Amino acid sequence: MANHIVASSSGGDFPAKLTKQVVLCSLIAAFGGLMFGYDIGISGGVTSMDDFLLKFFPSVYEKKHRAKENNYCKYDNQLLQLFTSSLYLAAVVCSWAAAFCCKRFGRKRTMQMAAAFFLVGVILNAASMNLYMLIAGRICLGAGIGFGNQAVPLFISEIAPAKYRGGLNVCFQMLITIGILIANVVNYFTSKIHPYGWRISLGGAGFPAIFLGLGSLLIVETPTSLIERGKTEEGLKALKTTRGVEDVQKEYEEIVRATETAKNVKHPFRNLIMKRSSWPQLFCGTILQVFQQFTGINVIMFYAPVLFQTMGLGADASLLSAVVTGSINSVSTLVAVFGVDKFGRRKLLIQAAVQMLISQVFVGAILTQHLKTTNAIPMPYAYLTVFLICVFVMGFAWSWGPLGWLIPSEIFPLETRPAGFFFAVSTNMICTFIIAQAFLTMLCQMRSGIFFFFAAWIVVMGSFAVFLLPETKGVPIDEMNERVWKKHWFWHRFFNPQDDDQQPAKC
Ligand code: BGC
Repeated sequence: MANHIVASSSGGDFPAKLTKQVVLCSLIAAFGGLMFGYDIGISGGVTSMDDFLLKFFPSVYEKKHRAKENNYCKYDNQLLQLFTSSLYLAAVVCSWAAAFCCKRFGRKRTMQMAAAFFLVGVILNAASMNLYMLIAGRICLGAGIGFGNQAVPLFISEIAPAKYRGGLNVCFQMLITIGILIANVVNYFTSKIHPYGWRISLGGAGFPAIFLGLGSLLIVETPTSLIERGKTEEGLKALKTTRGVEDVQKEYEEIVRATETAKNVKHPFRNLIMKRSSWPQLFCGTILQVFQQFTGINVIMFYAPVLFQTMGLGADASLLSAVVTGSINSVSTLVAVFGVDKFGRRKLLIQAAVQMLISQVFVGAILTQHLKTTNAIPMPYAYLTVFLICVFVMGFAWSWGPLGWLIPSEIFPLETRPAGFFFAVSTNMICTFIIAQAFLTMLCQMRSGIFFFFAAWIVVMGSFAVFLLPETKGVPIDEMNERVWKKHWFWHRFFNPQDDDQQPAKC
């Protein structure tokens, strides 16, 4: 059969086609990414709008318009940063609850809860009369993001055949980037609508939530989640329809075996932390998220308009530049969609680390030379900086962005998968919070040195990808321990050889 895709495994081959149903379900689920992305993109633009500042942060408004204000410090305000970052704190707490819901009620229901939280947040934000309403809205949005980011990547990784898992999972990131881009375009236009343009910007977040909520009524639950919750008949049926073949017995047995093991684990969180053989996945899954955030990407995503205004580009040019970086972000993610299952995860991560390092160092050097406390950077250098930032975003978009989500969703065995992925999601949110909360202060204190700070992190993460990260391309999700971790030159030592049915490689 021409389009009969066979994913090899240690225990045998799992036949599967890339069915329309799987593609459709993955795309619908990926709308969770649109919610997340829209929110990332909208905050920076809104916090640079005068009407918004005047209503909620009058002191920042005043500071911004004071003549000869320090270039690097004009937006430094803890409350303003709290507007951006409060969402991520809420998301951390909620992703813990979401891990529980994923296991108890399934991935699909958890996505529906995400859409509901998000909608409430949007209504509160768009109708905000004071700072309390604004922050309460952000907290509900955070709950939506926590639930969505927990459920969507897991859902896609479980529903996809191994051979296409990477590409389909990257659709989540693809929609994050499209969300950011749409938000940047919306901000560009709403910034001209006075005095309530910001309300349109914040209200627009309702669309992705409605798409996810309605779309999730059409999708099927993952076979793994059905079988895990005792619905074995339904699970087998779902496996046949999602794989598009009748011959799913081997994969079915593999999932049943994984769920049996999972059932014996009464406390997945404790298991994850206490059991030595869980440490490699836990370490890699969480550190990848730390690295993803410490590339410095969100400095650009949240604060690109602010950053470009700091460099002396006018308000319009700044938002426009943010649109340019947003477009590059989306288009470059396509490289990951099509490349991740072909080149593998590590190659993309390592190549991009080099590219991102070069651009961070050059941006740092240009700003050190040309952006002093109160001048405007000469135009050619301002545009060169925008170009270098685009090169940086490009690298991130096909590597640390999508793979920061993909790898943690595929490396845990079923018994610790939602719990393990919770650690990854919440680490992402905590680091995003730190960056969002601290960046404007860091910019004020460290000035252009901040770019060298992120460059140093990129050196560390590049080395990690070279030496410690195993390749997971094409490995069936329930066979990671046997085929990846127990065979890795370093991580194999965390597994007890008595438990092994295969000898670890020695190199
Ligand atoms: C990250 C976000 C980031 C976005 C940029 C995502 O993978 O988690 O923090 O803003 O990529 O495209």
